[in-house]
Amino acid sequence: MIRSLRIVTGLVLFLFVATHLANLGFGLVSIEMMDRMRGPLMAPWSNILGELLLTASMLVHIVLGLQSLYRRGTLRMSKTDAVQFITALLIPPLLIPHVVGTIVAAKQFGILPSYASLSPYFWIYEPMEGLRQVLVLVVTWIHGCVGLFTWLRIQVWWDRIAPYCYPLAVAIPVVALLGFVQAGNDAINPPEPAAVEQVVQSDAPVSAPVTQEALDALFEIRDTIILIYLAMLALTLVARYFRLRKSRSILQISYAKGPAFEHDTGLSLLEIATVHGVPHANLCRGRGRCGTCRVKIVEADSELPTASDLEQKTLTRVHAGEDVRLACQLIPGKGSIKVERLLPPYIQPEDIKQYQQDIQTGPDTLQPETA
Ligand code: FES
Repeated sequence: MIRSLRIVTGLVLFLFVATHLANLGFGLVSIEMMDRMRGPLMAPWSNILGELLLTASMLVHIVLGLQSLYRRGTLRMSKTDAVQFITALLIPPLLIPHVVGTIVAAKQFGILPSYASLSPYFWIYEPMEGLRQVLVLVVTWIHGCVGLFTWLRIQVWWDRIAPYCYPLAVAIPVVALLGFVQAGNDAINPPEPAAVEQVVQSDAPVSAPVTQEALDALFEIRDTIILIYLAMLALTLVARYFRLRKSRSILQISYAKGPAFEHDTGLSLLEIATVHGVPHANLCRGRGRCGTCRVKIVEADSELPTASDLEQKTLTRVHAGEDVRLACQLIPGKGSIKVERLLPPYIQPEDIKQYQQDIQTGPDTLQPETA
């Protein structure tokens, strides 16, 4: 359920960001064209259903991110995970001013956003805000692409669509940034100011005037939302600290062909292995989806919690035996445990696809990894 929610909400947000970036790309034609295309491109999100879907996806995705931070046993992680983790933390404070300045301003004060008004704002009156726009664009896109890639690369059909996805992943933000820069250039040196003004006046709904009172209220809303986010983040970190402190006992771990070591409990087997430099296959990076981190429990004199629904579903999908668990989901209690990795630690997506096919047709071609 949580796995599906994370994927679905992430996809909704990614789609929204992609359409937003596509809209920015029309800045290469003109600011007027950006405003003209905003209607059709944003139409799916500009009705009550679209707004509800978008808001719910954003809130759920943030809550799931905080929950995953709470459950994390260690902050030591791979470079890819670190990129996704840091970009996830940066997105809310970078994005909130934009959301308040456009959506909240329109709904609460009737101040309708348009590229004709925002381009001079970003490029002439508040260049630091323009820089924040560029940052949020880049950070959000990187976060979305890394998340999408982590999910897609273990799908059997990924190889077929990958050649189209990689160029798009680069082209979409580059075109959006070029459009944003060209719009800034047009705002500073308007090509035909009279024509632009005429079109905007005739096509666009009339916006309420931007008063100092409205601006003050919007700044207050922005600061309040950012403070709420920071408070939620701080609470999560404090709760995580106490969770780890409470569950701390000693666990002895040994691998079938070495090594063996001790560690505090409270972390998943995969996290402990990472801390001790023991390589483990983990194609979905510990999200419990791929099953590549699975281990056979050779001996256990430790409290082993029963598998969660997420873990059980993945174990069933890979036809794992009863003595097999996912290293990324198993958090052993105090005592000792001996395990054997069932897949080579440096397995690649193409190997696992072959492996999945072989499971269905008979013989296993991949041998358990030796330490
Ligand atoms: S790392 Fe993918 S299921 Fe554990």
